[in-house]
Amino acid sequence: MASLAHPGSQTRLFTKLSHQPKKFTPPSRIRMSLQENAPSLAVVGVTGAVGQEFLSVLSDRDFPYRSIKMLASKRSAGKQLTFQDRNYTIEELTEDSFDGVDIALFSAGGSISKHFGPVAVDKGAIVVDNSSAFRMEEGIPLVIPEVNPEAMEGIKVGMGKGALIANPNCSTIICLMAATPLHRHAKVQRMVVSTYQAASGAGAAAMEELELQTREVLEGKPPTCNIFKQQYAFNLFSHNAPILSNGYNEEEMKLVKETRKIWNDMNVKVTATCIRVPVMRAHAESINLQFQQPLDEDTAKDILKSTPGVVVIDDRASNHFPTPLEVSNKDNVAVGRIRRDLSQDGNKGLDIFVCGDQIRKGAALNAIQIAEMLL
Ligand SMILES: NC(=O)c1ccc[n+]([C@@H]2O[C@H](COP(=O)([O-])OP(=O)(O)OC[C@H]3O[C@@H](n4cnc5c(N)ncnc54)[C@H](OP(=O)(O)O)[C@@H]3O)[C@@H](O)[C@H]2O)c1
Repeated sequence: MASLAHPGSQTRLFTKLSHQPKKFTPPSRIRMSLQENAPSLAVVGVTGAVGQEFLSVLSDRDFPYRSIKMLASKRSAGKQLTFQDRNYTIEELTEDSFDGVDIALFSAGGSISKHFGPVAVDKGAIVVDNSSAFRMEEGIPLVIPEVNPEAMEGIKVGMGKGALIANPNCSTIICLMAATPLHRHAKVQRMVVSTYQAASGAGAAAMEELELQTREVLEGKPPTCNIFKQQYAFNLFSHNAPILSNGYNEEEMKLVKETRKIWNDMNVKVTATCIRVPVMRAHAESINLQFQQPLDEDTAKDILKSTPGVVVIDDRASNHFPTPLEVSNKDNVAVGRIRRDLSQDGNKGLDIFVCGDQIRKGAALNAIQIAEMLL
């Protein structure tokens, strides 16, 4: 494909798309994904950080498809990319893009989803949307497959009509992958989340800007600030999402509202502080949990160890806990620093530290797991 995440490298994650096809080297095994009787796919926003990861995850998981449309803006129309040894021309997203499409994976921003999501549904496609456009709409499932698969029950390719399913916010997905198994055991009453969010959460251009700024600062030059209003390299700042009238920013309120919808619990108390840190890829979150029932450290560790999609990295002896680098390009969310909250009585509080690749489990992987449940 045209511009892919390179495992092992944090800084050179994206290369520019060109008019010449570039080669994506698939794993050395026989591909079964291109099949006559499989669904036809569309990837909307294919040139972006999440769009590129869609292609990577589709390939990694041998997702079956009979055709795939590569859609982006007019700016990218006509550019070439190679996916699973075939060349594709990127097409401009238009109202006609969804004729014959069964599953449309959207990651081109909220306004694009708001306009083209319903167009795709009208054409009979099932849209899995990565933006925040529909997450809180009543009747639209907001799904983390390991957490609430039942929310999308009955939605299948071939059911004769389109549908829309929303992918939660990346910080919410990473948080709830770790908090939900504990919630199921001891019921979370209150959750306090502090995030340390990577550049990749703001898209491909933000990653490029962090890389550029890092070089500029090291060379003693003033940093280029196009995506963010302030210096990002060697700095950190409050998340760039708009601040609301209650003083929270939109990213923080997504954690509050989406948790309630996903857990189907309007009473759970959630508060969050979201911070951008100069990490290229993968978010970290410190999570403080207050439970209704007692839950000790060892039981919490055992629960997390047996949770699909979660790994425990909690080596106190060598001070080794999850890091964004270790989870970059990985599917699993890593949990560590699992300890009793000394400020709460009766084993009813825990602190944990979580890292997850938010382009992968926080976006593309979660969406494709949803798409797998449509088959
Ligand atoms: N990055 C993350 O970790 C993350 C996680 C969860 C959800 N999301 C959500 O996913 C969406 C995309 O995020 P991203 O990080 O991938 O952003 P990005 O890297 O900036 O990519 C944006 C994509 O949208 C396309 N696009 C922009 N305007 C368009 C238009 N008018 N018509 C068709 N395509 C258009 C771009 O195409 P061109 O290249 O042609 O401009 C590009 O492919 C956002 O809604 C974001 O909130 C992102």
